[in-house]
Amino acid sequence: MAGRSVVVGVGHYLPERIVPNSEFEKTLDTTDEWIRTRSGIERRHFAAEGETTSDLATKAAEAALADADLSADDIDAIVVATSTADLTFPSAATMVQARLGMTKGFAFDVQAVCAGFVFALSNANALIVSGQAKRVLVIGAETFSRIMDWTDRSTCVLFGDGAGALVLEAQEGNGTSEDRGILATDLNSDGRYKDLLYVDGGVSTQSTGHLRMQGNQVFRHAVEKLTKTAETALERAGLGNSDVDWIVPHQANIRIIQGTAKKMGLPMENVVVTVQDHGNTSAASIPLALSVGKQRGQIKPGDLIVTEAIGGGLAWGAVVLRW
Ligand code: UT7
Repeated sequence: MAGRSVVVGVGHYLPERIVPNSEFEKTLDTTDEWIRTRSGIERRHFAAEGETTSDLATKAAEAALADADLSADDIDAIVVATSTADLTFPSAATMVQARLGMTKGFAFDVQAVCAGFVFALSNANALIVSGQAKRVLVIGAETFSRIMDWTDRSTCVLFGDGAGALVLEAQEGNGTSEDRGILATDLNSDGRYKDLLYVDGGVSTQSTGHLRMQGNQVFRHAVEKLTKTAETALERAGLGNSDVDWIVPHQANIRIIQGTAKKMGLPMENVVVTVQDHGNTSAASIPLALSVGKQRGQIKPGDLIVTEAIGGGLAWGAVVLRW
């Protein structure tokens, strides 16, 4: 017997406003063609004025709870992965907790930028496996539109806003790779690369700042590190690449997604791709893809999924789970 964290609900929320690539042609020296071919992005959602990360997170959480047929009272802990919380403190997670009407349990944020959801899932799994929580809401939510430099064509066309959520529940498994739930995780970071992707402001420097990225440098690290972390997590689960039903990757760039699938020896038919519709939503991209993948009928109970992500830090990692 082994304690497992099993996904019992999934949901997402996207802000109403959809912005197509052509919108950027009006203000920047860019084209729909460049954005599509270099990144795979066709459109993204932007939060309305006054709409915050915890607003998006709460709506995604409500959708996941409804999918699980559970109420907020059934939840012991909330973990929100975000780099764009409403306020410096308290955490976005405590705001979601209050909005859901939850007065027990505990809530906190995890900040690992685009890898945030993988880090949050791994931490939530540890809480469940160690018996500290029975049901955990794990949310990825971002409003990256708030930290864009709208004059920088190399970054502002790439990101979007959104939120996705999973409900994880403690269940007993047999301790084999046939169990449902999280089977293995792998987390990494290397702060020597902090200048490749960062926000040039923060509380301690008394400014909000804007996202800065040496995109082609991040790209150079991405395929290799993502393949290695995915394969490490699979190995820890006692599985190989051929066991994978779905790669659910961080949705930053279609070329990174294709490159990683190719290096893992898997066809694109085994990859959930949403980057064309959402852009890069940082920590929200994986739970959004899981939710959309289920809605599309791609992800089914029993499927073996590997999620992988890399972002600012650099921080990267992977989670292997059976749906
Ligand atoms: O989610 C967190 C992790 N982040 C990522 O995974 C992002 C990783 N990087 C990428 O996705 C890609 O590197 C980008 C999409 C950001 C850029 O693609 P690239 O093929 O690496 O292009 P590049 O940065 O090498 O730039 C090529 C050219 C440059 O012009 P020159 O120097 O060759 O004349 C840029 O100035 O494209 C130019 N460029 C643009 N042109 C039209 C950059 N942005 C734009 C733009 N429109 N929006």
